Amino acid sequence: MPLIGPKEMFAAAYRGQYAVGAFNVNNMEIVQGIMQAAAAEKSPVILQVSAGARKYAGQTYIMKLVEAALAEDPDVPVVVHLDHGPDFEMCAACIDGGFTSVMIDGSHLPYEENVALTRKVVEYAHARGVWVEAELGKLAGVEEHVSSAEHVYTDPAQAVDFVERTGCDSLAVAIGTSHGAYKFKGEAKLDFGRLEEISRRLPEYPLVLHGASSVPQEFVDLCNQYGGKVGGARGVPEDMLRRAASLGVCKINVDTDIRLALTASIRRHLVEHPEDFDPRAYLKPAREAVKQMVAHKIRNVMGSSGKA
Ligand code: G3H
Ligand code: 13P
Ligand code: ZN
Repeated sequence: MPLIGPKEMFAAAYRGQYAVGAFNVNNMEIVQGIMQAAAAEKSPVILQVSAGARKYAGQTYIMKLVEAALAEDPDVPVVVHLDHGPDFEMCAACIDGGFTSVMIDGSHLPYEENVALTRKVVEYAHARGVWVEAELGKLAGVEEHVSSAEHVYTDPAQAVDFVERTGCDSLAVAIGTSHGAYKFKGEAKLDFGRLEEISRRLPEYPLVLHGASSVPQEFVDLCNQYGGKVGGARGVPEDMLRRAASLGVCKINVDTDIRLALTASIRRHLVEHPEDFDPRAYLKPAREAVKQMVAHKIRNVMGSSGKA
């Protein structure tokens, strides 16, 4: 099937109280691992491309990889999405290049500027049939162009005003998650009361959770056992993500867990087989590790198995 937009995907997820996994892609092995998992689980999937991924691989390469993935697994419903679009120009370039969904991330801007920028992207995107995700509130941590020492949680009343004024199709909310492998110093805590309130004020409206990797201890331990230094890493417990999926969150973003699964596998292989220098020897098990991790997530966290 051709690439699709998220409209029906999210409507079904909202009704069924599950989420669709949005997995960050940077190279062929990652695309293959995710797609093989989605095909095995008969699940819809979102392949998302950050500005950094676009710079690393090139938009044309990424789109050709996605095209190959669609040909290889024609039964998997796939959305290709720009993750954290930093400005209008990049969103427009992705829309013109065949993306079916873009995120404009104006979360670091003063409110009125975020509204104006998001509105501008929405006008361009909707005229071309493309979905727009926006963000309100700030996740703590560092992203490529946004860095915030403190969480600024999404205000429920402001979320309603923002959606009405911008016309954005889905909204990323800040309720205590953050990007990367170090999400919580102590106990993991999300503001579910706030999420419930946002969802109550925006009925039938798809919300998005960023910074939603679980940072499985197994991958952290493997990285460290085989020469890595990943100390004190902590992610979002899986039961919290399932709870979020029952409260209007239709898209759950995962990047860090892919990095950990891939790196743990490569580290182990190279230590256990020091004689190997054929990249296929270590990238094949690494791709399989991504597949297994994503399949687990689709089945046990997103709840989207069998929804293709
Ligand atoms: O939200 C950030 C994603 O994990 C993408 O990270 O900008 O390093 O590709 P990146
Ligand atoms: P993680 O760093 O928790 O995987 O979050 C990824 C993300 O939100 C991409 O937009
Ligand atoms: Zn994000």
